[in-house]
Amino acid sequence: MIKSRIISTGSYLPERVLTNFELEKMVDTSDEWITERTGITERRIATENQAASDLAYEASKVTLKRAALGIEDIDLIIVATVTGDMPFPSTGCILQDKLGAKYATAFDINAACSGFLYGLYIADGLIRSGMHKRILIVGTEVLSKITDWKDRTTCVLFGDGAGAVIVEPTEEDRGIISMYINSDGSMWDLLHMPGGGSRNPASRDSVDKRLHYVKMKGNELFKVAVRTLEDLVVKILNENNLKPSQLSLLIPHQANLRIIQATADRLGIPMNKVIVNLDRYGNTSAASIPIALDEAARTGRIRDGDYILLEAFGGGLTWASALIKW
Ligand code: ACO
Repeated sequence: MIKSRIISTGSYLPERVLTNFELEKMVDTSDEWITERTGITERRIATENQAASDLAYEASKVTLKRAALGIEDIDLIIVATVTGDMPFPSTGCILQDKLGAKYATAFDINAACSGFLYGLYIADGLIRSGMHKRILIVGTEVLSKITDWKDRTTCVLFGDGAGAVIVEPTEEDRGIISMYINSDGSMWDLLHMPGGGSRNPASRDSVDKRLHYVKMKGNELFKVAVRTLEDLVVKILNENNLKPSQLSLLIPHQANLRIIQATADRLGIPMNKVIVNLDRYGNTSAASIPIALDEAARTGRIRDGDYILLEAFGGGLTWASALIKW
């Protein structure tokens, strides 16, 4: 049976590092509060001139090079982002132009922090159905540009970055074993950006009211996230007759170390089997899982035949998981 398999990974992080100590000078916060409540010590910030497609381009180039492929080998580009270059056209189309991807089609996914896994889910279906042969999936975010740098409850959390993978068909006993995507729109207001769309178009008033920034009810999200992520992991493992102890690695969305630890604890997965990089990058939304996956693959933390589990939770609300035999 045809399955899809990730054959290459890559990532790009902007050079500028913003530390908790610098944030102490910007808002009423402390390194101690941020580290204890979130696990984050620093994050990367894009330059004034860098947009989501620029970060995506860098991550894509590395991913293609590692796969020893040219852009003409790619027939679909899926970009997951909530910080696209502009409302339209899609960042996928802008990336397509930058890469010179003449033989590909491109589009965007908006599922906040779950966006990369939504993209992988669509790619997996299209590969298994035979409709596409080689798909580039990129999670890219420049959250620093929609962050309210006067709001201490959100500005300490986010960072910029991009991660990418290429998937292709395989008949081997490996690849994406199963995936789930879910959403619950009844809680959309827990995490959103009110301005800039057709509800609150950009105006002097919308800018004065600071509507073009992320609004988050962090504490409520935290509780839903922990509950949902445990159920999500248990469901996908049960349906594949696997126990948590059979996983070699858990690669969670990097929102908060306490959420990651609570999920791992509830499942009995030791933290040495969990990828954590939010201390260095903060929450990069749709980019967080492909960046973490790339780091894990490059540092030898994933070996052929390993079972790994990717899971994400974010605005929408949305959540998703992928069980992979590497
Ligand atoms: N520095 C100092 N104090 C702060 C800061 C700060 N940066 N931020 C908030 N506080 C204060 C609050 O004002 C509050 O003070 P009070 O008790 O006097 O009212 C106190 O700290 C506690 O605030 P809480 O919001 O209850 O803190 P909590 O422990 O919940 O941590 C956090 C907040 C880190 C945001 C956490 O709730 C969280 O991580 N939530 C989930 C985020 C998430 O998963 N998002 C989804 C994915 S993101 C995406 O989709 C883009």
